[in-house]
Amino acid sequence: MRIDILTLFPEVFEGYFQASILERAQETDLLQIYTHQIREYTTDKHHVTDEPPYGGGSGMILKPEPIFRAVNAIAPDGVLENWPGDQENRGEQWQPPSRPPLILLTPQGKSFNQKMAGELALLPRLILLCGRYEGIDERVREHLVSAELSIGDYVLTGGELAAMVVVDAVARLIPGVLGAEDAAEQDSFATGLLEGPHYTRPATFGQWVVPDVLRSGHAARIARWRREQALRRTWQRRPELLLTVELSEEDKKFLAVLAEEQTAK
Ligand code: ADE
Repeated sequence: MRIDILTLFPEVFEGYFQASILERAQETDLLQIYTHQIREYTTDKHHVTDEPPYGGGSGMILKPEPIFRAVNAIAPDGVLENWPGDQENRGEQWQPPSRPPLILLTPQGKSFNQKMAGELALLPRLILLCGRYEGIDERVREHLVSAELSIGDYVLTGGELAAMVVVDAVARLIPGVLGAEDAAEQDSFATGLLEGPHYTRPATFGQWVVPDVLRSGHAARIARWRREQALRRTWQRRPELLLTVELSEEDKKFLAVLAEEQTAK
């Protein structure tokens, strides 16, 4: 997968993308990341990328021309008009779009989630545009951007951290990027549930002991225990997730026990 990032601060990406799993993904060519300095796409003598807003007000607004020029240079065949689409609507015949989506990182975007990460991971290309200052000229949003994403209900000084979050969440879903084949399948959210607890050696640490079942060697019992722990944690911390997850009869019985436990309290 190729990811292009448009930013006024390409240097901030260096450390994070050159460590650990993302570094290996690039070395093995599963992932190519290119950062582009928006300033290089200005044509005026002073390389101006932002100006005050029309109508007055505080802050500076990113100008449209350098951004349109940069996107044109990086994706000469254009970008998608919308989000690449819902995974559920993709049949066997589904072919990835030939044009990449251009995604603007902004607090006004839709909340980024694991499902979206999975949809982006199926694409051959992706372009991320980092907003900065007070905002970006509306014509960029209206006539260029495919979709807008937010990583949470708080305001950062720019879209760079959000772009790193999206790259990280997407990259680890590209087949081969994580070591173990199924490592991403048991993640929190991938199953629709939060992950339960994990333990490693020593079996006894101070007075705290690893649950017996995990040392029993009984695969089916361990799997059931893990599922129940995930259900319990989700019930306690993010109960709304249980409304959309697929539950077996056994799961439902276990949730009924949790509900009883709660009413007994
Ligand atoms: N830019 C500033 N704040 C942001 C956020 N919460 N998500 C995405 N981009 C942003």
